[in-house]
Amino acid sequence: MPDTLTFTHIPTPTPTPAAEREAILAKGGFGTAFSDHMVTIEWTEGRGWHDAQIRKREPFQIDPAAAVLHYAQEIFEGLKAYRAESGGVTLFRADQNAKRLNNSATRLAMPQLPEASFLEAVESLVRIDKDWIPGGNGSLYLRPFMFANEPFLGVRPAHHFIFSVIASPVGDYFKHGPKPVNVWLSKEYTRAAVGGTGAAKCGGNYAASLIAQGQAYDNGCDQVLFLDAAEHRWIEELGGMNIFFVRDDGSLFTTPLGTILPGITRASLIELATSKGIQVEERKYSFEEFQADAQSGKVTEAFACGTAAVLAAIGEIRFTGGSFKIGDGNGGPLTATLRDELVGIQRGRIADTRGWVR
Ligand code: COI
Repeated sequence: MPDTLTFTHIPTPTPTPAAEREAILAKGGFGTAFSDHMVTIEWTEGRGWHDAQIRKREPFQIDPAAAVLHYAQEIFEGLKAYRAESGGVTLFRADQNAKRLNNSATRLAMPQLPEASFLEAVESLVRIDKDWIPGGNGSLYLRPFMFANEPFLGVRPAHHFIFSVIASPVGDYFKHGPKPVNVWLSKEYTRAAVGGTGAAKCGGNYAASLIAQGQAYDNGCDQVLFLDAAEHRWIEELGGMNIFFVRDDGSLFTTPLGTILPGITRASLIELATSKGIQVEERKYSFEEFQADAQSGKVTEAFACGTAAVLAAIGEIRFTGGSFKIGDGNGGPLTATLRDELVGIQRGRIADTRGWVR
């Protein structure tokens, strides 16, 4: 298979009028509006990747027997394009998204997309839809994804896939903006087991989390916290993001990789904090210990992190039969500092010394 594909550019003949686009951009929010174009690349058994196109965004026509509709053979990524304060456009660690997509593809028995083609797909879409990147604190959220498109009801890896990228202008992930989030502990449901798909970014993981996410909403919470599947004891991650904790001595820790999603924001924060001289640990942490530490003041901050959410302070944990606050429930200084620093690098305001920004 060649390492790079040739992309055909077919700009839409009917771009959204500028005034309409500006009105959409002014609305903010997350995931409800979309840019004018999309990327599609097809993969066929025996032929490999072909028909790479940047074209008008429009619905897919898929057969009702397409394997993704029955067996959920689907993976995705998330990254953002930022309007840099210097005037350019930046992408943050897009190469890491390319690598993670391929790791997810391996787990879901799907084809590998060469990293160069992933990057070209993403960059071409950002270039053609650059007017859709909001100013201010907004960004253009890019959603690369791949799904099994073969009409076949037998259970085996499909022989035909579509890789696509769409773009959505976004503001804050949480409706209430940057204020701390409340988190609901799911005692009943788990997200991932050893040997399962927890470390892959596949739609099925998110589908399985939704019932617990619904319970979080019912209890006035923004996210659900999952424990491990074997003992229902160890903290894993939130429904759509990783979790970090800050101790009263200023050190930071997070839960170890294995059954959780290997977040790019998570990895970046570990590197960033370490380089600032902050002690960072990846360790197993039981919910019991977390509750005791938050109540004694040993843990002073906790935050959620991910591409969509960036860093969001956790104010309160709720569960059947109780609740507790983290610190005073209003977030803390290290969460704010790390968020400012990460966002500063992503938007080109703080020098990128690690080659993270394209
Ligand atoms: C992301 O942060 O990019 C995700 O895919 C998580 C989802 C909650 C939007």
